[in-house]
Amino acid sequence: MADSFSFCYSRDMINEKARIIKSERLADQVFSTVFESRVAETAYPGQFVMVGTKSDSRLLRRPISICEADREKGTIRLVYRAVGYGTKELSQAENGDSFDILGPLGNGFPLDEAQDKKQIILTGGGIGAPPLLQLARALRRTGIGKESVTAILGYRSMKSGLFLNEEFAAEVNVILATDDGSIGTRGTVMDAIKERDLKPDIIYACGPLPMLKAVRDFAADSFIPAFISLEEKMACGMGVCLGCMVKTSKKDSHSRVNNARICTEGPVFNAEEVVL
Ligand SMILES: Cc1cc2nc3c(=O)[nH]c(=O)nc-3n(C[C@H](O)[C@H](O)[C@H](O)COP(=O)(O)OP(=O)(O)OC[C@H]3O[C@@H](n4cnc5c(N)ncnc54)[C@H](O)[C@@H]3O)c2cc1C
Ligand code: FES
Repeated sequence: MADSFSFCYSRDMINEKARIIKSERLADQVFSTVFESRVAETAYPGQFVMVGTKSDSRLLRRPISICEADREKGTIRLVYRAVGYGTKELSQAENGDSFDILGPLGNGFPLDEAQDKKQIILTGGGIGAPPLLQLARALRRTGIGKESVTAILGYRSMKSGLFLNEEFAAEVNVILATDDGSIGTRGTVMDAIKERDLKPDIIYACGPLPMLKAVRDFAADSFIPAFISLEEKMACGMGVCLGCMVKTSKKDSHSRVNNARICTEGPVFNAEEVVL
């Protein structure tokens, strides 16, 4: 199995003012924003960008996963929940507005690990789904058939709205779960796996910490590899401030400590290599 610390870390980092060319509301508090951005040239599934705010008193940029990168059009798409100042400001911005963007950052999901696998599962809890859409498309582009890839997407309810599910369905099989059972399995993405007695050969996951822990435990019990994307709070996003550390089970070969920076050695980790 590949060492998660060595996946495809991009050195093609771009710092630019990127212009919005499309914005839309997808569901309750969930928005999609498309930027014209040179980040698209090298972005890899699972990487993220740091997005600035226009406030002079809020200097830190906000990390958001790249949901889609279109190299030909030179665009990246971010899908996010508006939870605070930065994401609300972005959600209210109009076409033509510009934001500071730094990226692509982080390592990304290891595609090679899926190559010989018959049942590949992508689990996206809530706003963890966006980076998995680019992963689904990338897996298909490597020649993996639709029948081999299933996205299990967890939402709050039909009432608060589903998002990205139709775009996933164009690429891979889709199973839905909702907290209230208003569509799909009642419960979490793990409940959906257990309800159908799915036997994945590999899992890729992004979502809230309890879901990631459940995926890690399931993968360990089933002796299958799992790669999880951690969405911790970040300050610099580029490995300098040490504000995003996660404990690791192995010592890092360079620093000789049981720590890794989520922004640089992650955000994607082999589930058995991090202590959650
Ligand atoms: C690598 C990475 C990728 C991410 N990708 C996405 C994405 O694709 N879509 C998306 O909606 N969100 C994503 N997030 C979370 C996103 O960064 C935060 O929601 C955002 O920074 C909040 O900024 P704000 O200014 O709107 O909120 P603030 O005003 O800074 O905070 C508002 C609330 O959000 C909480 N919050 C702040 N940062 C985070 C965080 N990192 N995780 C969870 N809660 C936080 C705060 O504690 C507070 O309760 C990602 C985070 C990381 C680290
Ligand atoms: S956010 Fe600064 S080191 Fe990761």
